[in-house]
Amino acid sequence: MFYHVYPRSFASSRGAAVGDLAGIQSRLGYLQDLGVGAIWLSPFYPSPMKDFGYDVADYCGVDPVFGTLDDADRLIAAVHERGMRIIIDWVPGHTSDEHPWFVDARSSRTSKHRDWYVWRDGSGDGPPNNWRAAFKGVPAWTRDPASGQYFLHSFLPGQPDLNWENPDVREAMHGVLRFWLDRGVDGFRADVVHNIGKDPLLLDLDSEQAGVPRFLFNDEAHTHEYLREIRSLLDSYDGDRMMVGEVVLFSTEQMAAYYGRGDELNLVFNFKSLYAPWRARAWAECIRESEAALSPQYAWPAWVLSNHDLPRHRTRYGGEAQARAAALMLLTLRGTPFVYMGEELGLPEADVPDEARVDPGGRDGCRVCIPWDASLGAGWSEEPWLPLAPEAGLRNVEAQAQDPASMLNLYRRLIRIRANSSALREGSIEVLRHCGKLLVYRRCMQDDSLIVAVNFSAAEVLWEDAPALAVEVASDARGEGEAFGGSLRPYQALLMSPRLA
Ligand code: GLC
Repeated sequence: MFYHVYPRSFASSRGAAVGDLAGIQSRLGYLQDLGVGAIWLSPFYPSPMKDFGYDVADYCGVDPVFGTLDDADRLIAAVHERGMRIIIDWVPGHTSDEHPWFVDARSSRTSKHRDWYVWRDGSGDGPPNNWRAAFKGVPAWTRDPASGQYFLHSFLPGQPDLNWENPDVREAMHGVLRFWLDRGVDGFRADVVHNIGKDPLLLDLDSEQAGVPRFLFNDEAHTHEYLREIRSLLDSYDGDRMMVGEVVLFSTEQMAAYYGRGDELNLVFNFKSLYAPWRARAWAECIRESEAALSPQYAWPAWVLSNHDLPRHRTRYGGEAQARAAALMLLTLRGTPFVYMGEELGLPEADVPDEARVDPGGRDGCRVCIPWDASLGAGWSEEPWLPLAPEAGLRNVEAQAQDPASMLNLYRRLIRIRANSSALREGSIEVLRHCGKLLVYRRCMQDDSLIVAVNFSAAEVLWEDAPALAVEVASDARGEGEAFGGSLRPYQALLMSPRLA
């Protein structure tokens, strides 16, 4: 099970407004108690922070706001001492416009790094084609006055896209991987990695797609070659070094292709499920498609409900009861679950006032600071960079740790049960039924089998022909240790074992 830390908002060691690496280190005991196997850190590299670290100005450093390289080394060692693993964000598709490569590239048409980025002449008075960038729907091209040419940026103009066709770019980005692998990280989360290979013809999008950010359609064959090179680099290291890819493609089959034949990404986030509504049918479809598209030989699913880019799922799904049921589901699916910091506290999306919003993509509400205790600053002595999570007085770590019925203790329990169950960790999954309201699946490993039933609705739901089952865990703690009575309470999810008659 992975735990995703957004370093700015996790914890500060110096009581600063922004979290730091030493702050993460100081909270490793919390993560260990939760049962975390591996931590994924969002970027902490030197950055102008136009996209809060996803605009990297130096891949091999630490931004002073987060600490120093020594802090990174200490954190990696401390994570390993506790028997956990750590992966870090790697942003291969674009640099900051302040990265020395881009500063050189834009200095003249003949500079050494010019071809490290994607430059084109305009077409007529405008950009080379109709591609749009993410955020605000602006063109994905910006004209650089120095040369009069346009550069491509799938995201902000401050995030020029790298040209992966150039072997020197590939070599430099492999160097970044080696730099961190040599320092001991266990792997990487590769940012928008399906977007590194570009359409060589840079063809316009069809008119009905033209308003949508272009990277959402990017799916080029040569990206798979680049990924195979990366995989052999990772596999040349000792230990299980790995890469999980952010492939923002909503077709499960397209996504599955990024595992290659076990020679590309180790894991790929299932984005279809990340965007799926809270409905039994939608989730049954995600599970079935994943089982059909991911070859059992090469590919292992990765499930995620929330991250630093989307409104928190507790709010998207409608409330605490749904979030509790979703936790039970997430931690009993076949595949590796990723938990986004704060979801184990049941944090809702924060309502950040306009004047406090800082993100160009409007994603502030899922990035607010983790409340550690009930004190005024909730463990943040200075006013944090974004407001504290809502209901910090109730939903903080300290209060929830003491309350056996809290969301935090539900996560702890589920994670522990998962770790001790081979059926949940490695067993097969089969959707047994789904109707408008109810989803039932079985996890099975040899003669060990478990049943999960999730009621997606606000009404009680009957499961008429259910076999004899005993309730092991209930998302609302009701009926545990008892025989399953044939119905589920509103938004209740149950983990059950077969009962001998
Ligand atoms: C990914 C990141 C997101 C970032 C974008 C550009 O989608 O998750 O936060 O803005 O890439 O790097």
